[in-house]
Amino acid sequence: MPAPSTPLRLVPAPRLVEERAGAPFVVTASTTVTVGTSPAEVSLGVLAAEALSRVSGTTVEVRYRDVAEPTQPGDVALRVDGSMAAEAYRLDVVTDLVEVVAGSPDGLMCGLATLHQVLRPHEGTFAAWPVHVDDEPVHAWRGLSVDVARHFFGPDDLRVVVQLMSAYKMNVLHLHLSDDQGWRLDLPSRPELAARSGGTAVDGDPGGWFTTEEFSALVAYAQARGVRVVPEIDVPGHVNAALHAYGELTPSGEPTEAYTGIEVGFSRLHADLPATEPFLRDVFGDVAAVTPGEYVHIGGDEVLTMEREEYARLVAMASDAVRAAGKQVVGWQEIATTPLEPGTVVQYWDTRMDPAPLVAAAKAGARLLMSPGSRAYLDMKYDADTALGLEWAGHIELRDAYEWEPTTLVPGLPEGSVIGVEATVWTETLRSIDDLMTMLLPRLAAVAEVAWTPKERRDWDDFAARVAGHGPYWDAEGLAWYPSPQVDWHVDLG
Ligand code: ACM
Repeated sequence: MPAPSTPLRLVPAPRLVEERAGAPFVVTASTTVTVGTSPAEVSLGVLAAEALSRVSGTTVEVRYRDVAEPTQPGDVALRVDGSMAAEAYRLDVVTDLVEVVAGSPDGLMCGLATLHQVLRPHEGTFAAWPVHVDDEPVHAWRGLSVDVARHFFGPDDLRVVVQLMSAYKMNVLHLHLSDDQGWRLDLPSRPELAARSGGTAVDGDPGGWFTTEEFSALVAYAQARGVRVVPEIDVPGHVNAALHAYGELTPSGEPTEAYTGIEVGFSRLHADLPATEPFLRDVFGDVAAVTPGEYVHIGGDEVLTMEREEYARLVAMASDAVRAAGKQVVGWQEIATTPLEPGTVVQYWDTRMDPAPLVAAAKAGARLLMSPGSRAYLDMKYDADTALGLEWAGHIELRDAYEWEPTTLVPGLPEGSVIGVEATVWTETLRSIDDLMTMLLPRLAAVAEVAWTPKERRDWDDFAARVAGHGPYWDAEGLAWYPSPQVDWHVDLG
């Protein structure tokens, strides 16, 4: 059986790929996924078998095995090897066996994402030609932030987002759960937040919110696919939805009007009001309680009507509440102007702002997450003709989202202070999953590669040729996407 004439088109590019000679491994009714017996491995084995069943139209079974049990012909064997780095994996395909070995279940998930990309349609089923892949990410945090506050995107939409992230080895879904226009997570200690501010959205469009059960189900769905959820409650600005729900948070004691415009910077908490600190403790305590992951995001951006000292007090109150609930703090870049505990994650976004406080915070032990507006803000228009999106950070074509290096973007950062890369998608103009996907694809694939692949292995022309092979996959999944003119999408998939 000849090897296919078209190349593999893996995104993100692995560190090492060696295509080898030989007949392909063909997925058939006797293909079996074998996996160890830890709960995380069992869950992965089931997902892998489901995915193989779906692509091949046959039923692929799962078998649990002891460590010592040898593989058998036809197996897709998944194995954790504790001597490897957690997210490192090796994928070996030979004619009668597929082996994925990784340092952890998360690493296995990454290996399975690669396996999915090496499978090709073949005689009514799918097959993988012999290949050896040895791979490991550069950055531990490979995120996407989704604004569910300006317009609400519920569990069904976010499950589609999680599947897409997992396919590109992205592992953090950051949810912007509150803003001036709406509050999207019901919290037991503060029921009026969702009750009074859950139903609103930009332009008077329908809102919505997660019950804690729905939220926990989404978190579990994501976790099973190697994606951690980081919830954000944005304070001390972007809080009109909270002020509309609880008048005690305003100086007059009266709730504010609901807000459905898209201006920023006008709403704020007040450090001296007696209700403020209890509010922050309750809210961040409840959010932490539905967050199995390590991190909770306190926002901190665009507080345009507050003295520095009060801002710093409010950031400290929110951070203390997060830490008291056992979680680590993430905040937008502006929090770097306040005293921070070492280890705080600071998210860089506004390339117009003086980076000196960010550099100083990093030198004092903060970790940096890179989301430069001009590269990673995937709600920016592709060009002047893009119907959706905003343009305050410029236009971001696919190549702009691809050609940048997170560790050298801000001069003077200490070695090792960048923990990762996060794309964002703000939803002032985005109302549907098709709108969301049109902005994410193909650019999310570009940012995923910036986050995963060493810079020496990244090359625009090479990426453009590889990503072209992904259009048919997005079409098959029913995902809307933007056919960037920078790519020749007319590929023969062989
Ligand atoms: C932001 O874009 N305001 C973080």
